[in-house]
Amino acid sequence: MNRRLGVLVSGRGSNLQAILDAIGEGRLDATVAVVISNKAGAYGLERARAAGIATAVLSHRDYASREDYDRALVAALRGRDVGLVCLAGFMRLLTPVFVDAFPNAILNIHPSLLPAFPGLDAQRQAVEHGVRVSGVTVHFVNAELDAGPIVLQATVPVQPDDTPEALAERILPEEHRLYPDAIRLVLDGGWRIDGRRFVPR
Ligand code: GAR
Repeated sequence: MNRRLGVLVSGRGSNLQAILDAIGEGRLDATVAVVISNKAGAYGLERARAAGIATAVLSHRDYASREDYDRALVAALRGRDVGLVCLAGFMRLLTPVFVDAFPNAILNIHPSLLPAFPGLDAQRQAVEHGVRVSGVTVHFVNAELDAGPIVLQATVPVQPDDTPEALAERILPEEHRLYPDAIRLVLDGGWRIDGRRFVPR
């Protein structure tokens, strides 16, 4: 697989930073070809600029439909010869236009043990449900929200008195550890998709 990554962010970009650090420290053999955000003020863009990486801002307000927006995203990623797309806190729903353009080549990180607590505010959902264990999932993106084949997961305990913020803070270091590992696994190849399962070599 082409080792050029396109990282999509909407905010803080700490997972982007974890990917950049893993590359910088030789733990991940890849290049971040471009960082794209739907928000001009996303701090993730600052992190990219500080690392000398090309950035682009695509605001959904400039496009008539979700499909038009996704066509622009695909063009921006193709223009940088991206082989693997990594969603890192990218808070937009993707249409088949985007998903079909990168089959089995879009990863997402989600702060729960999917299929539990998909969608927004996963840590709050976990606390309010009263689960004793939550965690993080890196999965392939398909047309269904937070439902593609799972590449890696890690568990994190939930304390009885946790707030969503406290749980999020406990999950985050696991995200930063797991995402580079999952990207490496996918880039190294030899895996297959069997039904809804990711089967490593
Ligand atoms: C992370 O916790 C990530 O798992 C979550 O957004 C945060 C982004 O933080 N993503 C989702 O909830 C996707 N549904 P970051 O910008 O610091 O990487």
